[in-house]
Amino acid sequence: MTRKILVLPGDGIGPEIVAQAEKLLTFFVEQKHIQLELESGLIGGSAIDAAGVPLPDETLSKARQSDAVLLGAVGGPKWDQIERSIRPERGLLAIRSELGLFANLRPAVLFPQLAAASSLKAEVVSNLDIMIVRELTGGIYFGEPRGIKQQDCERQGFNTLVYSESEIERIARVAFDVAAKRQGRVCSVDKANVLEATELWREVVTRVAKDYPDIELQHMYVDNAAMQLVREPKQFDVIVTTNMFGDILSDLASMLTGSIGMLPSASLAASGCGMYEPIHGSAPDIAGKGLANPLATILSVSMLLRYSLAESTLADNIDRAVSQVLSNGLRTKDIHSEETQLVSTDEMGDAVLSELVNLMK
Ligand code: IPM
Ligand code: MG
Repeated sequence: MTRKILVLPGDGIGPEIVAQAEKLLTFFVEQKHIQLELESGLIGGSAIDAAGVPLPDETLSKARQSDAVLLGAVGGPKWDQIERSIRPERGLLAIRSELGLFANLRPAVLFPQLAAASSLKAEVVSNLDIMIVRELTGGIYFGEPRGIKQQDCERQGFNTLVYSESEIERIARVAFDVAAKRQGRVCSVDKANVLEATELWREVVTRVAKDYPDIELQHMYVDNAAMQLVREPKQFDVIVTTNMFGDILSDLASMLTGSIGMLPSASLAASGCGMYEPIHGSAPDIAGKGLANPLATILSVSMLLRYSLAESTLADNIDRAVSQVLSNGLRTKDIHSEETQLVSTDEMGDAVLSELVNLMK
């Protein structure tokens, strides 16, 4: 059976990191490990330039017809001044929303070879393995009303933080299910002492937990969670939280693992549809210079194979190839240190491919 993958390189470093990930998929296809049809599409600033909107209908309909979507990154200073409703980031939010990708899984796993690249002491982060489950299609990112309006003699900016019980319940269930396959512990992060929407969040998560008697549930305010992630990150197994808190805490967690260039993500819908992307942005300042770390995108392909295509053996092989390349001492600039060998984006992609070829002989 041929499965369809839609590849959306996007902007900035998006095309160069996605190109590395595609090398692996092409290898799998050529060696007949899997039958795939790769298609590409436009999103973000590149779509604005070509079609005037950040998410063209054609991209969305291709996505709907695909088994999975692989995305690079969107945005850049070139499009910062255009009208807010059609900026590149809106394309990303729209595709998440249109495809119903409410569950965003962001694993923060430390490769032992990178312990020294973390900003924390090696003993604080060794064996770190946290899964952040971020709600992705609700909360303050999508709440109405929103905007900037004239109020008396000044302007006022406003957004709405809103969560319905059903939205909270379904993301809580994802977190409990994920925890059941891990250490069985969920920490729900909110700001229930101040924000009513997250007071409800806490209530609903507590109620849903009754269906999962084997899972240990803890609640934590987001300010404390940020502190605890830096103080003693290994206390966490699964963290479940709102769209905005998850955005912030996942960037924080990435630094525990050495670099934001290492962390992949999976965004899943109830329908089974999935989109996979590195958690980092388009890094326009380093675009086209061969400096970007492609490993987050490569690891996103591993998640794609695991979650959308049920090809866990191929996924395991990618993870092992990445680990081997790190053991061999190869590093892109973001994770480079004195005793290691500095390589470009392309060289890193080639090195992972050649380890993969070795592993699958
Ligand atoms: C992320 C990014 C996006 C987000 C931006 C680019 C809209 O920061 O995926 O974490 O805020 O969700
Ligand atoms: Mg972010």
